[in-house]
Amino acid sequence: MSARPGDRRLLVRDLAQLVTPAAASAPARGADLGHVDIIEDAFVLCEGEAIVRVGPMHELGTVDGEVEELDGRGRCAIPGLVDCHTHACFAGDRVSEFALRAAGATYEELHARGGGIMATVTATRAATEDELLQAVERHRGWMLRAGTTTFEAKSGYGLDRETELTSLRAVKAAGGVATWLGAHAVPPEFPDADAYLDFALREVLPAAAELADAADVFVERGAFDSDQARRFLTACGAAGLALRLHGDQFTELGAVGLAIELGATSIDHLEATGDDGVRALAESRVTAVLLPASALFLSRPMPPARKLVDAGAAVALATDFNPGSAFCESLPLVCSLAATQLKLSPAEALVACTLNAAHVLGCADTVGRLAPGYRADAVLLDVPDWRYLAYHLGGPIVGDVVLAGERAELR
Ligand code: NIG
Ligand code: FE
Repeated sequence: MSARPGDRRLLVRDLAQLVTPAAASAPARGADLGHVDIIEDAFVLCEGEAIVRVGPMHELGTVDGEVEELDGRGRCAIPGLVDCHTHACFAGDRVSEFALRAAGATYEELHARGGGIMATVTATRAATEDELLQAVERHRGWMLRAGTTTFEAKSGYGLDRETELTSLRAVKAAGGVATWLGAHAVPPEFPDADAYLDFALREVLPAAAELADAADVFVERGAFDSDQARRFLTACGAAGLALRLHGDQFTELGAVGLAIELGATSIDHLEATGDDGVRALAESRVTAVLLPASALFLSRPMPPARKLVDAGAAVALATDFNPGSAFCESLPLVCSLAATQLKLSPAEALVACTLNAAHVLGCADTVGRLAPGYRADAVLLDVPDWRYLAYHLGGPIVGDVVLAGERAELR
């Protein structure tokens, strides 16, 4: 990404700290995951949508010409956060189910009773295209306020042709990276998962492949088994989509092996993954996307994050923002959970939701670092030490967000 003559300029100056992943390439693995470069008393200079310089204030010199300045005193800059796994395109809510769960019902019980994902499918099918776009934009505003400057969002609450394609269009119109979660659940109008997949691959895939970057499948009892997932993903891969899986959330059903076999970009969740799965992922190119807010929200075991990182697996963090299993759009909160529950260091957490998350979305060359040539996306934390990102549990730490070289309006 390069600047053009005459581009507007923004200088963020006098930052207490500027922090960016140190790894030379993406994804960062093993010890590299925990390495960040820290510049004290720093500046970032942006031209147009790109970062052109970063460094310590004593190297800034004079900046000629017109430049807008943003005061960084008492603040720390980190790269704009990248949420590589959300279900931000949905209508309605599941607050009543949440209350039932608080009173003891389980997520699986609600799903088996026709609630859960299917409840949101009913609400999403009833929404107009405009209402869905407004919903994604509202959710995007929440994410931005929490420091997320790049987000992925999945379809998967339509499960009919029209609503799936409308969902993908809404995600793209709101500036997101779209994933076709065409195999999220089996809607009741089909007798079984295979009949639904016949329809989805024949009637929806050709148009979905034009809109989405990736395809995703929920491999779980009551959703899709690994043979059905193989069939779905193989067809999606042949249509040019990157492949992702929801795997090992409740049960190990072979999703890790399938992800590796098919050369998937990521496998996400992994709360139930055992040591064999950890070893296999460490030897593979598949990124493990961990979603601790979902495990917390459902009172489920946390994924084996420490084991994955120590074994050398590529690990990313995301929110899983959705109305049922993780009504949480905050990556800073996910970083706090990573430190307190997953035993990752603040540096590992930061790299996992910047550089490594960008790798999952195929954009690690342009986002996820504060460095010349990258898109000028930055979060200015109102904190004296950048590690407050993980330390201040749920705290109001995001002061300003710079989005493509401009100070964003936070709503
Ligand atoms: O990632 N596990 C499947 N899908 C989502 C939950 C969707 C929902 O409950 O609405 C997840 O947790
Ligand atoms: Fe999910």
